[in-house]
Amino acid sequence: MEKVRATITAVGAYVPEYILDNHELSTMVDTSDEWIMTRVGIKERHILKEEGEGSSYMGARAVEDIFKKTGVKPEEIDLLICATVTPDHPFPATANIICDKTGIQAQSFDINGACSGFLFALDTAAKFIESGHKKKVIVVGADKMSSIVDYTDRTTCVLFGDASAAVLLEPTTEDEGLKDSILQSDGSGRNYLYMKAGGSAYPASHETIDNKWHYIYQDGKTVFKHAVSRMADVSVEIMKKNNIAPEELAWLVPHQANLRIIDATAQRMGISRDQVMINIERYGNTTAATIPLCLYEWEEQLKKGDNVILAAFGAGFTWGAIYVKWGYDGKKYHK
Ligand code: UT7
Repeated sequence: MEKVRATITAVGAYVPEYILDNHELSTMVDTSDEWIMTRVGIKERHILKEEGEGSSYMGARAVEDIFKKTGVKPEEIDLLICATVTPDHPFPATANIICDKTGIQAQSFDINGACSGFLFALDTAAKFIESGHKKKVIVVGADKMSSIVDYTDRTTCVLFGDASAAVLLEPTTEDEGLKDSILQSDGSGRNYLYMKAGGSAYPASHETIDNKWHYIYQDGKTVFKHAVSRMADVSVEIMKKNNIAPEELAWLVPHQANLRIIDATAQRMGISRDQVMINIERYGNTTAATIPLCLYEWEEQLKKGDNVILAAFGAGFTWGAIYVKWGYDGKKYHK
């Protein structure tokens, strides 16, 4: 029997209109465009301002974008998985809400793999397709990071932005699609990057609010060290395992947390900057949305047969890489 793989057949996205740039941030906290650009590489990030709207608002728009461009109908979708660390509510799952907003009636659930969440969700979705259990699956990465950022803390507020992007996965028997994945986690890193309260350990209380435990806490230096080694190691490992020489790689699609982490990863892989999708300057770190948002922005340049490596590192710690042989000429959606 022919091997069935999952292949990405379309990408959609939604980015909120409001732009919070380094200049505006420097009126809010003691920071500067120069510091943010040299240490992180971010110029601006987008913020969702709509009252009462959460990650599902953006996720639903990314899904509608896919429907519009492909002509696929909501009733054809068998499964929707949403990667997010900023769900609309602790429950039900944001994926359930996205389905309701877009007319999808199918199994749906969330995955929390922090900044590696999109990769974890994509790999999970692929397994449903490879097993023959599902045919058309949507994977959404959506995060409203502005809902958990403390805009008086200069060490974190300059880093994050809001966005959503999604991919449609379908079965293929051709030599394309998701060909390999190496995904990992190490929960002993949990105290270096986390939101302390709002879960079952520390439910919301006056004390948790007074202590600012509902915001992102990050020990940036420690996370940076782990991010550089883990993301580079796993990217090199997946290249070697699949016999991809640096010049045979069309694109590295890295999680966008820090330009220095991206550059270090590319260097270790022996590839040049023009083989790397980088848009951190315009969006900052949008957590689960960074990787599909890159695919969205570069879709027109992606060609059938391109070797693409997706790589991420994030809270948990979680990290990993996925090797994709791209399945279509992106130009077909950009005539
Ligand atoms: O996506 C999930 C995974 N997350 C990551 O991968 C993030 C990993 N970490 C990082 O990217 C970096 O550690 C940061 C961008 C968060 C920080 O950069 P850094 O080069 O590690 O800076 P630092 O934390 O060592 O701080 C250096 C200095 C400090 O001042 P002193 O102690 O040297 O006087 C900070 O207080 O920079 C100061 N600083 C700032 N200055 C101006 C920290 N944040 C700012 C700021 N503006 N926004």
